[in-house]
Amino acid sequence: MVNSKTAALLTGASGYLGGSLLVHLIRKFEIETRNVKLYTLVRKPEQVSQVHELGGDVTVLIGDVMDAEGMKKLIIDNSISIVIETVDARLFTVAQPCIEALAVVKEKLSVPVHFVHTSGAKMHSSQVGIDQSGFLNDDGDVYNTLARVDTQHPVMKKFVRVNNEIIDYAESKGVRSYIVAPPMVYGPGKGFGNKISIQNAALVRVARALGQLYQIDTTDTIWALMHIDDQCALYATVLAGVLDLKAPYGKDGFYFSENGTFSWRQLSLALLNALRKRNSLDAVDKLPVATEGDLVAMSQVLRCDVGMVPLSFAGNCLIRGNNARKLGWTPQYGVEHLMSSAEEEVAFIIKEDKVFAFPGAKLP
Ligand SMILES: NC(=O)c1ccc[n+]([C@@H]2O[C@H](COP(=O)([O-])OP(=O)(O)OC[C@H]3O[C@@H](n4cnc5c(N)ncnc54)[C@H](OP(=O)(O)O)[C@@H]3O)[C@@H](O)[C@H]2O)c1
Repeated sequence: MVNSKTAALLTGASGYLGGSLLVHLIRKFEIETRNVKLYTLVRKPEQVSQVHELGGDVTVLIGDVMDAEGMKKLIIDNSISIVIETVDARLFTVAQPCIEALAVVKEKLSVPVHFVHTSGAKMHSSQVGIDQSGFLNDDGDVYNTLARVDTQHPVMKKFVRVNNEIIDYAESKGVRSYIVAPPMVYGPGKGFGNKISIQNAALVRVARALGQLYQIDTTDTIWALMHIDDQCALYATVLAGVLDLKAPYGKDGFYFSENGTFSWRQLSLALLNALRKRNSLDAVDKLPVATEGDLVAMSQVLRCDVGMVPLSFAGNCLIRGNNARKLGWTPQYGVEHLMSSAEEEVAFIIKEDKVFAFPGAKLP
């Protein structure tokens, strides 16, 4: 019997975004009704059974996204026509083989094929030099805004062109591309692997180790926020729009996930005070402005280059996600939830953090 299902592959099944999305798709997406055959990618054999333990009819593939030929083979052999990539926001070389393989599947099956790339809000922020005097709307001309931006930051310079490269390459191959750009995502992950997000986990690590958090920008800067459940719902909305061929794609296919903004200073203060409370210390109402020495100390805790610290917890990101909302996405969690859930967030991060190890931590 010919399998008429649409084969969709989700990468990063053991990750925060990919793992949470996998659970969301299994539990809430009605894969069967939508006639989807769901595949997911892991790179360690022991993760196969962990996916199966989640339940749901999911076929697990083992592969490495850096192995271009291997990825092409997996996609072509399984006639996958939709790839949702959640492993690497920055590397065109991860997207390229997927797009090439999707083009082969398109030729073979004569069906539309789709590549959903997970980018990040940083690519659309002051960190790359995008004008912050107003909001950047994802249903505006994001493609040309990115094409014009003159990024000076040595790290971001390398990555700022990736979204447009993906769009151009996919278009040249007849593949529909979609750029999902999550901002600071928070909340407990739902997958079997990593359950904590990047920025809050890093802030908590710094606060535990140094007993302090800092104001990194001299002015109070604000950034877009997104709860993990809303993030998964956005991916699911985009996927539904992809299946119905209703989701804008290519140069019109940007999907900023945001539900308002938060202040880096206020968030840092809330996380620090949650940790202070756990350590029976009174709350503070101000953060010191970070000195060069503080930035170095933070980079030592995070084991990163000192230049990465301001890139991680500073800057402005004023983005508006209209495209997913037009497809029916309705996020539930906003800044009030972010700020009022700081204590639960800190407790969850401490419980789930498999990386933090800092002898002499000041707020353990
Ligand atoms: N979390 C956020 O708030 C956020 C916001 C915006 C953008 N992003 C971007 O979204 C991407 C995913 O973020 P995340 O928070 O979900 O990260 P994560 O929790 O670290 O997950 C990364 C996933 O990628 C897998 N992986 C890594 N290298 C791989 C490879 N070579 N081949 C196959 N799989 C590989 C990991 O598998 P293993 O278990 O084998 O390591 C894991 O499943 C990143 O590029 C991140 O920058 C994240």
